[in-house]
Amino acid sequence: MKMARVQCLWKRLMVCSVTLLCCILLRMYYHQRYPWMWSNLPHSAIPSHPMAPYIVQENVKCSANDSTEVIPSHLPQSYQEFLRHRHCRAFPILQAPSPCEDDLYLLLAIKSTAAQVERRSALRDTWGRAGRIQGRRIKLVFLMGRSHDKVQGHDLQPLLEWENRCYSDILQWDFVDSFLNLTRKEVGFLSWFSRACSSAQFVFKGDDDVFVNTENLVEFLRAHKPTNHMLTGHIHGGSVPWRDEGTKYFVPVEMYPDRKPYPPFPSGGGYIMSRQTVLGLDVMAQKVKLFPLDDVFVGLCLREMGLNPTFHSGFLTFGFSAGHQRLGPCVYQEIMVVHKLNPVEMRVIWLLMQDTLPCA
Ligand SMILES: *[C@@H]1O[C@H](CO)[C@@H](O)[C@H](O)[C@H]1NC(C)=O
Ligand SMILES: *[C@@H]1O[C@H](CO)[C@@H](O)[C@H](O)[C@H]1NC(C)=O
Repeated sequence: MKMARVQCLWKRLMVCSVTLLCCILLRMYYHQRYPWMWSNLPHSAIPSHPMAPYIVQENVKCSANDSTEVIPSHLPQSYQEFLRHRHCRAFPILQAPSPCEDDLYLLLAIKSTAAQVERRSALRDTWGRAGRIQGRRIKLVFLMGRSHDKVQGHDLQPLLEWENRCYSDILQWDFVDSFLNLTRKEVGFLSWFSRACSSAQFVFKGDDDVFVNTENLVEFLRAHKPTNHMLTGHIHGGSVPWRDEGTKYFVPVEMYPDRKPYPPFPSGGGYIMSRQTVLGLDVMAQKVKLFPLDDVFVGLCLREMGLNPTFHSGFLTFGFSAGHQRLGPCVYQEIMVVHKLNPVEMRVIWLLMQDTLPCA
């Protein structure tokens, strides 16, 4: 009886000391890895962390440039607004994802908006699933602004915050999530990457309605080095600005001269870059004037860097041409990226691709 009690006490003592040791080790680990958790660094120096999304107090109030020379009054309101704030680049971060791992191979950076809950959910369950492919670590991050969308009168911001608590995969800035603000998303992403995620060797940047064959992507990347420049996708060469105000891609002559084609640029639906190129783009994006179309903006930066993006036929950013069988698993074995799939199609393709039947 007494013996048993001593044994019991002994056991408790053991458990206590092991726990204590663990705590000390953990604290030492965190102290080394996240020294800012214990010091009073300015907020802007604090890297992303799931428990403490940091707010960067930079350029919070960027005043409008009301010089009439800058704002032609015949332009649509949104373009006038764009020009008035063209010099505003840095916006506070509202939410940050979990930290990037040291051995991160491929970062999937996906542009999304608050209302696209279903798309994000499908991506997390299918090709965007965090983990490893051929032994290489993959991480998913959604790039978002602040949405004014409402569902039955309710703001969607609390939903986003809940999503980030559950999945730690949201990077959100304090600007309105509009089409003309997509270049701000680009600039914000590049800057965040340089500061907080440059351990990643490669980056896939794309929309939340693309399907990506991550196996093929990793296979393709094996032949590349993160320390060399590389940007590959569906490349547009020789496109000229659309001058019709009613179209989505309208660019007024005040923003881009007539009859001059854009430099080659990757279709924003999805393209892949090496770390070296992302870091270079970040430096250039601080200098090049903001442009209404984010993918053309990337092209403008590439030109300044003296880089040529490379075309790859597996990036079907305009979907399949007529006659293609959209939902065949064999078709998807050959591609890298397909644009414009809804969440159900995404899940069906994923399921079909898990099938090990030969595709002869
Ligand atoms: C506003 O635009 C004018 C004309 O381009 C420029 O000279 C001026 O520096 C701008 N002001 C700000 C605050 O950016
Ligand atoms: C971009 O975001 C800013 C900051 O939220 C907002 O004031 C502005 O209206 C937005 N611009 C456009 C063109 O939507």
